[in-house]
Amino acid sequence: MPAPAAKPVLDVLAGQRQANPPVWMMRQAGRYLSEYRELRAKAGGFLDLVFNAELSAEITLQPIRRFGFDAAIIFSDLPLIPHALGRHVRYETGEGPRLEPLDTPAAIDAMQTRVDPSVIAPTCEALRIVKRELDARTTLLGFCGAPWTVATYMVAGQGTPDQVPARLFAYRYPDAFARLIDILADAAIDFLVAQLDAGADAVQLFDTWAGALPSAGFAKWVTAPAQKIVAGVRAKRPGAKIIGFPRGAASNLPAFVDATSVDAVSIDWTAEPSLIRERVQNKVAVQGNLDPMALLAGGDALDRAVDDVLTNFSGGRFIFNLGHGITQDTPIANVERMVKRVRAFKG
Ligand code: CP3
Repeated sequence: MPAPAAKPVLDVLAGQRQANPPVWMMRQAGRYLSEYRELRAKAGGFLDLVFNAELSAEITLQPIRRFGFDAAIIFSDLPLIPHALGRHVRYETGEGPRLEPLDTPAAIDAMQTRVDPSVIAPTCEALRIVKRELDARTTLLGFCGAPWTVATYMVAGQGTPDQVPARLFAYRYPDAFARLIDILADAAIDFLVAQLDAGADAVQLFDTWAGALPSAGFAKWVTAPAQKIVAGVRAKRPGAKIIGFPRGAASNLPAFVDATSVDAVSIDWTAEPSLIRERVQNKVAVQGNLDPMALLAGGDALDRAVDDVLTNFSGGRFIFNLGHGITQDTPIANVERMVKRVRAFKG
């Protein structure tokens, strides 16, 4: 049997620096692609895509075909977890998720505590389909929302500026909030294990709103649950590769890395490069951190920003990515320009 082809993203997660860093983009499957918009218009709503394994698989593969990224991230969304816990989610056209607000301790006490497997089944089936179709060097990523970020949507019933409703709730009802976070951490463990079993090579834990918390809150609602999730997943699937994304962690990041034992962290564009190199990349792989606005701007500004990211982090274990998801008005030509420049880099 020939040795299996190397997967550059997985190799970086395993600790091997690549002279030419692998590249993929957060939110690479989505509305900036005309082929996505076409499928979505045919399917009806966003959830009709998420709950259809064939369509989810097709959407996952669209950006791989177009740009040849080194990782495919399964098409799904963060509020799948509340949905699987019986808190039904809907999407208004062109907007984010809407849920029934979970805004009293009594409502949390009455909550379903285990994931309904039938809700996550289509995502797992989509992973199996993609795994069959993906070439051997492309890493397949699963993901789920981290407890704090998912809780911000559950408490408020939608995305909110500065995550005010969840922050207030956590101060007013710390015990009830801790129960919610615990339920979400257990749900994340179940969902991530199911995705690994369905063929994901690695998984990413998205804590998009981690930066809204003070340091003590960050330790309690971001780091501690991530630690529990990583340990819980690895207890069931030893050696599972896990990327953390506590967006906006700033100087809380080194402690997050030490406590959680993630294999890599995704960093946003505000991260200070020397702090990352000296106190994060010396321990784990780093992924990031092009400003999505540089990608939207394109041209020379994009080239300079790509070069900055490469100069800052390519000396260590590094996966080129954005600091947050691509925005829907980004021109395809700018993505092509970014990929070409990263591919041409010799570190
Ligand atoms: O390509 C990929 O990265 C895989 C799929 C993916 C989606 N959402 C698809 C999606 C992933 C990894 C996410 C993560 C996600 N979803 C996050 C964390 C990362 C981040 O970008 O902040 C968050 C906070 C959400 C919640 C969410 N879902 C919002 C706020 C919105 C609406 C606004 C927006 O940016 O689109 C969504 C909808 C959503 N999730 C779409 C897609 C392709 C658009 C739905 C549509 O077709 O209208």
